[in-house]
Amino acid sequence: MNPIYEKLTRCVECVREKTDFVPKVAIVLGSGLGDYANDIEVACEIDYHDIEGFPVSTVPGHSGKFIFGYVGEVPVVCMKGRVHYYEGYDISDVVLPTRLMKMLGAEVLFLTNASGGLNSNFSAGDFMMLTDHIACFAPNPLIGPNIDELGTRFPDMTHVYDTDLQKIIEETAASENIKLQKGVYAQLTGPSFESPAEIRMLRTLGVDAVGMSTVVEAIVANHMGMKICCISCVCNLAAGMTDNPLTHAEVQEAANEAAPKFKKLVTESVKKFGQI
Ligand code: HPA
Repeated sequence: MNPIYEKLTRCVECVREKTDFVPKVAIVLGSGLGDYANDIEVACEIDYHDIEGFPVSTVPGHSGKFIFGYVGEVPVVCMKGRVHYYEGYDISDVVLPTRLMKMLGAEVLFLTNASGGLNSNFSAGDFMMLTDHIACFAPNPLIGPNIDELGTRFPDMTHVYDTDLQKIIEETAASENIKLQKGVYAQLTGPSFESPAEIRMLRTLGVDAVGMSTVVEAIVANHMGMKICCISCVCNLAAGMTDNPLTHAEVQEAANEAAPKFKKLVTESVKKFGQI
């Protein structure tokens, strides 16, 4: 058996020894949404440490856990904490949690992240719903022998971000009076922020926001046939757009400030995903 698939299967077994909960929606929490779990009616929690082979963040106190429960009537699994490629993990480990959540039953993947905005109409604190992405600055997680059990060798990428989910998110934002931008997101590896010249290059390529996650997860989820959506919290204007140097603290502060609205948008959208 393909070793990546074998590891994944073992992770599924580990989770199934602890819970038979079947989620419909998988939610990945980005920076600033860490306490989103408070909005979930919790059925069960599983620490990443208790899943054999599962990638666990090396930062002390940041190991993370899966939270299984309900948002409204909708059964969800929520990832509190995720690992990034820049931490040094193999790309197959970075995307393992996404694949695992699909194998537990999730049909919908709701990604969230923090980003830097390139579009001159954006302000720090805006939310941007992804309509498409640029993946070619990050390693493709499907490189290597195709895992036929998961999907096809050459997946189509025409409609990665599901139009029905996008419509629900747009309607939700409008009814909650939350400003919602739309655009194209590019994932770079990080951990360094981009240089102003890189930002000019990305803008020329049609990028509206840039970050260090998400696209690799969207690729494997699309490979497995999940319906995907993503909202990015534009935490800062990208390098060179203001005179200020970028800091992680600034990104976190903006994400924390935006968190209440972000949570509202995610929660009210997920409740409606039950109809899909
Ligand atoms: N660049 C990359 N990733 C980010 C940024 C940025 O400006 N802000 C938040 N995450």
